[in-house]
Amino acid sequence: MSHHIVEARDLAYAYPDGTRALKGVSFRITHGESVALVGPNGAGKSTLLLQLNGFLRPTQGEVRIGNLPITPKTLDQIRRTVGVIFQDPDDQLFMPTVREDVTFGPLNMGFPRQEAESIAEAVLAQVGMSDIADRAPYHLSAGQKRAVAIAAVLAMSPDILVLDEPSSHLDPKGRRRLIDLLHGFSHTKIIATHDLDLALDLCPRTIVIADGRVREDGPTLRLFQDQALLEECALELPLRMQGCPICHPQHPPSPSPGR
Ligand SMILES: Nc1ncnc2c1ncn2[C@@H]1O[C@H](COP(=O)(O)OP(=O)(O)O)[C@@H](O)[C@H]1O
Ligand SMILES: [Mg+2]
Repeated sequence: MSHHIVEARDLAYAYPDGTRALKGVSFRITHGESVALVGPNGAGKSTLLLQLNGFLRPTQGEVRIGNLPITPKTLDQIRRTVGVIFQDPDDQLFMPTVREDVTFGPLNMGFPRQEAESIAEAVLAQVGMSDIADRAPYHLSAGQKRAVAIAAVLAMSPDILVLDEPSSHLDPKGRRRLIDLLHGFSHTKIIATHDLDLALDLCPRTIVIADGRVREDGPTLRLFQDQALLEECALELPLRMQGCPICHPQHPPSPSPGR
C-alpha cells in the first residue's frame, strides 16, 4: 500500500440490539492528514473508529485502507497499517509489566524476542516512558497509561493512528505532553475528541458526526467559528477562540473601566 488513504463509503452499522449507530457515512482521508472527529455523545464516533481496522464489520457500505477493502482476508494487513488506541487504556494494557505490554505486539508479528524488546525500548523512549518499563500498567497514572497504550500501538509500526478521546482523564500537563507527542508524528491521524482545543492544535480538518451521519466536513477553524453548529452538536468553543475579537466581531472586548 503506497498511499495510506482511509475511505468510508456509505458506511452503516447497527449493533446486534438493533441500535443504528452509523447511517451512511462517507469521507476520504488522504496520506498524512490529521483529522478530528467531533460530535455529541452517542453520535457514532467510537463506532466509526472501530470500523477502521475491522473490529466491527459494516452492515452496509465499506471501509477501504489504501486500495484494500477491509475483509476477513485483508484484516491482518489492515491491522498492521491502522493502529487504534482505545478510549480506555485498560482495554489495551493487560500484561504484568509495561515492557511486556509493548513487546507483545512485535512478538505477535513474528519478531524474535531480542528485536521485539529493542523495538519496545525505542517506542517507550519516544513517548517518554522508559523509566516505568518495569512497572505494572494498572498502577500507572492516566497520562502514563495513555502514553504506554500509544507506545504499544507504535511498536507495531502502523502508518495510520486512530485515537478515541485521547485527552480524557488527563491533567493539563499530561494533555500538553500528549499533544506535543502527537504533533511529532507524521502518521495519518484520526482523532475522536470532545477537546476542541486539542483538535484545533492538531487537526487542520474536522469531520462533525451527528446521529450517525457526517454533519460537516471541512477546515477546523472554519467549522469552529460556526456557533450554531457547535451548539447543535453540544460542543464548546475552544478556549483559545473564546472572546477573540477577530473570530467574534459581534462581541468586541468590553471597554476598560474609566473609559
Ligand atoms: N455495544 C453497543 N450495543 C448497542 N448500542 C451501542 C453499543 N455501543 C454503542 N452503542 C450505541 O451506538 C450509538 C453510537 O455510540 P458511540 O459510537 O459510542 O458514540 P460516540 O463515541 O460518538 O459517543 C449510541 O446510540 C450508543 O448508545
Ligand atoms: Mg465515544
